[in-house]
Amino acid sequence: MNNKKLIAGNWKMNGGLAANAALLNALNEAVGARALCDIAVAVPAPYLSQVQQLLANSPIALAAQDVSAHESGAYTGEMSAAMLKEFGTRYVLVGHSERRQYHGETDAVVGAKAQRALAAGITPIVCVGETLAEREDGKTEAVVKRQLAAAIHAVTHCVSEIVVAYEPVWAIGTGKTATPEQAQQVHAVLRAQLAAASQKADVIKLLYGGSMNAANAAELLAQPDIDGGLVGGASLKPADFLQIISAAQ
Ligand code: G3P
Repeated sequence: MNNKKLIAGNWKMNGGLAANAALLNALNEAVGARALCDIAVAVPAPYLSQVQQLLANSPIALAAQDVSAHESGAYTGEMSAAMLKEFGTRYVLVGHSERRQYHGETDAVVGAKAQRALAAGITPIVCVGETLAEREDGKTEAVVKRQLAAAIHAVTHCVSEIVVAYEPVWAIGTGKTATPEQAQQVHAVLRAQLAAASQKADVIKLLYGGSMNAANAAELLAQPDIDGGLVGGASLKPADFLQIISAAQ
C-alpha cells in the first residue's frame, strides 16, 4: 500500500494558459521523472485539458476542484465524474469550505459527490473543517466528525479509498496556520473515526490545509497523523510549493 505523503495544490480560481504553463514547467523541471511523495494540482475546470497535456509525462497528478453529485443530465454548469475522468483526473476536492460557504453544499451533497468520484475511479479528497466561531464554542470535534460521517456513510464499503483534508476555515487564506498540536489533535480524532469504519484507516491519507507554507510545512508533516497537505496560496509559487514537497519526502 502506498504510504507516501500527498501534497496537493489547490489553485482555486487562479491561473491562465501562460501562467499554468510557466508554473507546471517549473514544477516538472524540479520534480523530474519521479517524486518521493505523491503530488497533485487541483486546477480550474477550463484548464483540465491544458494541464492534462502539461502533466503527460510527469509524476504530478491532475486534480479537479469539484464534481457533480449527479451521474449526468440537466444540471447546467456542473461537471460529472465521467467528464473529469476523460481528462485523466486522478483526484477531486469535495466539500471544500468555500463551496460549502458560497454554494450551500451540505454534508449529504458532499457525501454524494465523494461516492460519484469513487464510482468513476477518481479519488475524492473530502474536505472538513470548523469555523472560528465553532472552534471558540468548543464544537471543533463535533463539526468535523459530523462532516466526515456523511462521507463515510455515502461511500459505504469504500472508506479506505478516500482522502480526507482537515482545513480549519479560520486558517484558510489567513496566514493563521493551526499549530502542529492543534492539527494533530483533530487528525487523531478523524483517524479514530475512520478506524471505526474501516480496518485500513491507517493508510487513509489525512491532509492538513490552511496556510501551509514553506516555513511551517516540515513541522506539520512531522505529526503522526498528518499524511500530507492541501495547499492554496503557496501552491501558486513554484519555489514555495517545491519546498513543501521537499518537506514531505
Ligand atoms: O484547499 C486548500 C486551501 O483551502 C488552503 O488555502 O491559501 O490557506 O493554503 P491556503
